Amino acid sequence: MNTQDIENIPTNLSANEHFQDVVNRVAMSRRKVIKSGLGLSAAMFLGGSLTACGSDDDSPAATGGTPAPTPDSTGTISFSPIAVSSGDSVLVPAGYQAQILAPWGSALFNDSPAWKGDASETGDDQARQVGDNHDGMHFFAIPGADSSTEGLLVMNHEYCNYEYLFKPDNYGDDPTATWTLDKVRKAQHAHGASVLHVRTNSAGKWEVVIGSYYNRRITGRTPMELTGPAAGNALVKTVADATGTRVFGTLNNCGNGFTPWGTYLTCEENFNGYFGTTSGVDTRDTHMKRYGISALKSGYRWEEFDDRFDYVKDPNESNRFGWIVEIDPFDPNSIPKKRTALGRFKHENVALTLSKDGHVVAYMGDDQANDYVYKFVSDNAYVEGNASLNRDLLDSGKLYVAKFTNGATASDMMGVGEWIHLDKTANATLAADNVNFPDQAAVLIKARLAADAVGATKMDRPEWVTVHPTTQEVYLTLTNNSSRALAAIDDANPREANRFGQIIRWREAAGDPASVAAFEWDLFVLAGNPVKYPKPDLRGGSDNITADNTFNSPDGLAFDAEGRLWIQTDGNYSSTSHYQGQGNNQMLVADVKTKKIDRFLVGPAGCEITGITWTPDGKTMFINVQHPGEASGHPNAPVPTGGMSMDVFLANNATSFSTWPDRNPDSRPRSSTVVITKTDGGTIGL
Ligand code: FEO
Ligand code: CA
Ligand code: CA
Repeated sequence: MNTQDIENIPTNLSANEHFQDVVNRVAMSRRKVIKSGLGLSAAMFLGGSLTACGSDDDSPAATGGTPAPTPDSTGTISFSPIAVSSGDSVLVPAGYQAQILAPWGSALFNDSPAWKGDASETGDDQARQVGDNHDGMHFFAIPGADSSTEGLLVMNHEYCNYEYLFKPDNYGDDPTATWTLDKVRKAQHAHGASVLHVRTNSAGKWEVVIGSYYNRRITGRTPMELTGPAAGNALVKTVADATGTRVFGTLNNCGNGFTPWGTYLTCEENFNGYFGTTSGVDTRDTHMKRYGISALKSGYRWEEFDDRFDYVKDPNESNRFGWIVEIDPFDPNSIPKKRTALGRFKHENVALTLSKDGHVVAYMGDDQANDYVYKFVSDNAYVEGNASLNRDLLDSGKLYVAKFTNGATASDMMGVGEWIHLDKTANATLAADNVNFPDQAAVLIKARLAADAVGATKMDRPEWVTVHPTTQEVYLTLTNNSSRALAAIDDANPREANRFGQIIRWREAAGDPASVAAFEWDLFVLAGNPVKYPKPDLRGGSDNITADNTFNSPDGLAFDAEGRLWIQTDGNYSSTSHYQGQGNNQMLVADVKTKKIDRFLVGPAGCEITGITWTPDGKTMFINVQHPGEASGHPNAPVPTGGMSMDVFLANNATSFSTWPDRNPDSRPRSSTVVITKTDGGTIGL
């Protein structure tokens, strides 16, 4: 998410019933105490010895004296939780250490330009350096190598911050005042993904193997292929591509997924932000508006130099973004594939699991206020070791959208759900509408409109989804939704003006992820601020939220191999008003049996915490610190001088707010991977 916060602005103007409309009909009171079943009592939480914290700085002494960890009741989580912070460091618990790896601008090829620090790199330079705004990420073991000291780290580069990406011409200048093709190219090359061969060196520190065969930059201009049911459809044919199958680039790569057959999935989220028009004429149709294409100029201004981003000149180019893209990280010459069978929306991440009979099930969220949750079930089953059969499993299957209903009791924050098949033939509503949906390709390309038509449930911004490694219970973050009206609350989205977010979970019928029978769901946690809003005010959160673990806006979410649930935040870091005392964005870990949640990490100033993956032995964790230095609203934000806006001031005073991670006045804040290990070499979290 960037400071534009466009996900908070709903584009869903359909009349679909909010689940809370159901609540309205039964005339429930709006602010009631959370019922039992939502969490532990406060007495069951740790007493909170928030003592020594580590930091990400290179000096290992920062981790302090390693007090004995407090054992968790189940024995699966054991560390001393840390306090909030509004500082400019990565903080981890005592006994842990954090290392910087592969920040924006790092070298990965033998001919990569060295990071200059003053943003004077050209567009071509950026194509040879690690991209910006690290997001989703996965560690792949390399066959034949020690899987926990060497592998391929694949990460997304979601967007870029122009205040830090470009060098002003003179002090006080707006670096975007002079707008050039090379600046457009630099921005396009800062997007996409990186494949990095990484390993530990003789000192035990992780490093990029510069010049490795595997290293690759995928950018906003890399050739890709559209595959699946929508490939070749009239809606994806453009001025440059009459076949409707050849696309350049992937954009706004947010969260990720990975497959059992060893490929990486990158998810295109706010692709709409790159399209606009220099024509001065707003020709957008209902479909383009539903996906949030700008009326005239886009914020990124690529349309000024690159015609395909001008929707008047090329109205179908935007239909070629908003997909999940499959990348083979082991073949640097492979062509990434945009898998249209998974539907087109603002994809956050994707979580794959297998059904009882081996079919691939993919869960996905569409991150916008009042948008939906989806599920894909492949037509064919996964067969371990059969590469040619598995390669295109994501090209054919059934796409469903979720409806969450209150169940037998309203206002208990649990209920039942159903999966509605988005199919031109099988669904009577879609079958009857040959204007919007002449064929299944149109259903997939306009998945949001199809979901509107069939009555999906409007959710509080679906972000990451993850599947428990053994129970296959599914957990999903709903990050916040300040636009939710009192009249539109429901059990799944139970707060008006929801500033804090919640995590919902569900269990498929008969324990089979492929089932389309009714499923059961409940809320695992309502994030909140019990200091600002003492319970039973719902803004104080569920029972498993206390003064010691308060947070807002859960976003990144992943289970580790042993079933610990890691929760990352991308929320309001003002630490004032509604967010009083919540500090910077952070990462917490939950025991899903006891519902206990402890704070494990706090990020530097102005960042979000995102991306999470582990080495197979569970002893090295990689996370991403995205957009350190986004100052707006932070308690330590500088006060611009000289009549400059905040962005122009930061462009000219790049370390005035954050110096993370370089601690160098001649550099600038930059997104980076952070490698977390225990000082005793043990399993993370235990
Ligand atoms: Fe890119 Fe919804 O976060
Ligand atoms: Ca209910
Ligand atoms: Ca996110």
